[in-house]
Amino acid sequence: METAAAKPRFRLTRPVVLVGLMGAGKTSIGKRLAQFLEVDFWDSDDAIETAAAMQIPELFARYGEASFREGEKRVIQRLLTQGPGVLSTGGGAFLDPDVRQSIAEAGISVWLRAELETLWKRVKDRSTRPLLQKPEPRKVLGGLLLERYPIYALADVVVDSPDGIVPDEMVQRVLCALRADDALKDQPTLVEMPS
Ligand code: S3P
Repeated sequence: METAAAKPRFRLTRPVVLVGLMGAGKTSIGKRLAQFLEVDFWDSDDAIETAAAMQIPELFARYGEASFREGEKRVIQRLLTQGPGVLSTGGGAFLDPDVRQSIAEAGISVWLRAELETLWKRVKDRSTRPLLQKPEPRKVLGGLLLERYPIYALADVVVDSPDGIVPDEMVQRVLCALRADDALKDQPTLVEMPS
């Protein structure tokens, strides 16, 4: 009788926190990664919307970006106390030094890095991101890329997300990068389980 090939099983020891610009794939890859590792998935944007009982564009319009950022920080710090899982963060969250410190203390950060054209292709038809609801949104996105990439580069692990890559391959790339990072560290993020 043929048996399905056993998939490698890992135990996650701390939260994996996905960071990167809008359109990097943090939510879609995060969900799949969590599924693969059989752990919880959280999305900071969703958690803020639930806490505020309001969608992000409305939050920005009513209370402004600074207030959104405060809420975002609180939500992320709370989610980081929930133990091992996968947390997808809104694109601006990692810019806040307190958020970066909380992530560094509790988890491991993974930057999903993509080129401007790839990001633009993925976000241009959506109206859910207030920062892009402006004249010349492609230029705005390019400006954010220039401003933010040096900060995302502070993440523990970097994984490239090229145009057209299939999500499952991205998940494998993230796992590979985490394993490579573990090889350099005393406290691994992924512990291989005996089959
Ligand atoms: C933002 C990104 C959005 C959301 C908000 C602000 C940003 O999340 O948090 O619109 O500053 O880049 P995604 O990166 O999930 O789109």
